[in-house]
Parts: sequence; C-alpha cells; structure tokens
Amino acid sequence: MNIVLATRNSKKADELTRMFVSYPVVFQTLDAFPDCPEVIEDGRTFRQNAIKKAVQVARYTGCPALADDSGLEVESLGRAPGVFSARYAGRGANDSRNMKKVLKELRDIDDPRSRTARFVCCIALALPDGRSKTFTGVVKGTIGKRPKGSNGFGYDPIFYPLGHDRTFAEMADSEKDVLSHRGRAMKKLYFYLKRMLT
Ligand code: IMP
Repeated sequence: MNIVLATRNSKKADELTRMFVSYPVVFQTLDAFPDCPEVIEDGRTFRQNAIKKAVQVARYTGCPALADDSGLEVESLGRAPGVFSARYAGRGANDSRNMKKVLKELRDIDDPRSRTARFVCCIALALPDGRSKTFTGVVKGTIGKRPKGSNGFGYDPIFYPLGHDRTFAEMADSEKDVLSHRGRAMKKLYFYLKRMLT
C-alpha cells in the first residue's frame, strides 16, 4: 500500500516512517510531488488542520495521504502555543526562538507543578474521495528551566515527559517513539491499518 506523507518537515516524516518499518506500507514524501500546493493551516484545532492537510494532498496526488498536526500546550499559558506551535515566535520563528519564547513566558514560575504541559498529535488518514479518519495521541509532562539535549526537534529540549528526568531531546529515537504523542497516535493508526489490510 502506498501512502503519501503530507508534510515537508523531514524530522516528522522520519518519525512517522520509522514506526512502520516492519509493515507492508510504502511511504512517499511530498518530495515526489514538488508542485503539490502548500496547505494553509488555518484550523482552530489539530484535528481540523490534520484533516485539511491529508484531504488536500490525497485529492491532489490521487493516493491515500497521511498528515500529522501537532503541538505543545502549556497549561499556565492557556494551552498556548497550541496550533501555533510552529510559528509561536512570530516572523522568523524557528525551534530555538519558539522555545525561548515559552521559557521567557514561564520565567517567573519555579514550581514544576505549575509548569505542566502536554504534546498533542492528531494524525489524519484521507482517501482521494475525501473520506478521512483521525487518530490522536497525547503525552503529559513539564517544561524545564533551560533546553537540554540535541535529539529530536521543536520543543523536545524543554519537555520532560511525566515520570522521566530527561527531556525528549536527551532520549534515543526509540525511547521517544514509545512515549510520544506521535508514537501513541501512530500506534492507533497501525492497528487500524492492520485490521483493514487483514
Ligand atoms: P505542525 O507542522 O503545524 O504540526 O507544527 C508542529 C510544531 O509543533 C512543530 O514545529 C514543533 O514546534 C511542535 N512539535 C510537534 N511535535 C513535536 C515533537 O514531537 N517534539 C517537539 N516539538 C513538536
């Protein structure tokens, strides 16, 4: 089965692909469809954005498409950055600036119990006829005082998953995959596809 990954984020594509290594699914990235139009992520929820991306790419390519919309929700910031996670620092936003902004906003909060956060991932699988199904994964944790580690991407260096004293960026890929919001959503998708294909 061929599935197009509706993302140009190579780190995300790596995470999605490596969870399916032992499975009869061939993932193509959007590199195979360089003219595929950019999807405007204007949804108010991860689910709306994931469905929009997957449906648009499935319609354009004529293949089933998989899209992930994900982000960080910090409780004391009213669940920001949320769907704005990738562009939280505004113009010129990148992972480092986004993290700095979160750390700055939490600078007066020392108690880890008030620095709670969660990552949310919604994965949408869409067919070229517009039908879609979504799978959501969540991981709870806390925001550290400073970035630690160099693996992963995004907010990984400041996120301590609940019950762990290392950030996602200090963990091996395989450790993060078991705990992460994306890993949990992918596990649901994995069992769904397994049921569909057998
Ligand atoms: P999206 O491409 O619109 O879904 O943006 C997702 C953004 O959320 C990324 O650019 C990161 O800033 C953040 N994010 C999502 N998943 C992760 C993760 O696994 N680790 C760290 N940051 C993440």
